[in-house]
Amino acid sequence: MGLIHIVGAGPGRADLLTVRAARLLALADAVLYDRLVSAEVLELVRPGAEMHDVGKEEGRQEEVQAHILELLEDCARRHEVVVRLKGGDPRVFGRGGEEWAWLAGRGWDVEVVPGVSSAVAVPALAGIPVTYRGVAGGFAVVTGHRRAGSCQEWAAYAGIDTLVILMGVGQRVEIASCLMRLGKDAGTPVAFIENGTTERERVVETTLGAVADVEVSAPAVMVVGEVVRLRRKNADWRLAMRGNWKVLADISAAGRAGAAAAAAE
Ligand SMILES: C[S@@+](CC[C@H](N)C(=O)[O-])C[C@H]1O[C@@H](n2cnc3c(N)ncnc32)[C@H](O)[C@@H]1O
Repeated sequence: MGLIHIVGAGPGRADLLTVRAARLLALADAVLYDRLVSAEVLELVRPGAEMHDVGKEEGRQEEVQAHILELLEDCARRHEVVVRLKGGDPRVFGRGGEEWAWLAGRGWDVEVVPGVSSAVAVPALAGIPVTYRGVAGGFAVVTGHRRAGSCQEWAAYAGIDTLVILMGVGQRVEIASCLMRLGKDAGTPVAFIENGTTERERVVETTLGAVADVEVSAPAVMVVGEVVRLRRKNADWRLAMRGNWKVLADISAAGRAGAAAAAAE
């Protein structure tokens, strides 16, 4: 009987994994991974491990989820180290909490390895701090998946300085109009960060009143609040990050070699 590790894969770049996550990937017998886990992170998995891409499964969400749980149990019966790999932090909108509760309830030993969530890391690497003294004293991370036509669900969040909205691309216009109806100014700055932390990152800046005028593709993090204006002031810092991309890639490669050596010991 194996141990099941529910592991956060971070926001994309392999050098934003935790050390513990990288070590477990190098030791894994079986890995079940989601759609948002990057190819760069999957390269760290021990060669020969059984790989299951459960992000591409089609069907009703509940049936897919039931199949993932069955597959996890099946892998844990046959292997020692089973990794359930989920983008960002596994328990921030990733159903990691439900998987953990279900498996633990069935008597499995389950470890949760937190990950760097896109909610904070994606704005940070795009040059947007989610809090800033004198500008934003707090932030909330909210799902954009809500019942269509129900602005009331946003009432609890409209007064918060910075809103970080995940899975909000499809409903962005409705979200913006609800926030304005609930009192946020139409001029409030908004940023969408697509494919954050990766080389395909694209940042679109607009305002709440003009959200309908911009094209955005998922996956993206939507940031609403005055902190978005700080991004321009951080321009030098962002350029430095771009310039150092090779250094970051080298650090990643060194980590990979280290993880492989640890697995071989
Ligand atoms: C199901 S949620 C999972 C969040 C994840 N557990 C985390 O902590 O980052 C998926 C959403 O996270 C956001 N997301 C995750 N990774 C992202 C990235 N690299 N760039 C932009 N958005 C990302 C998008 O809003 C996407 O729709």
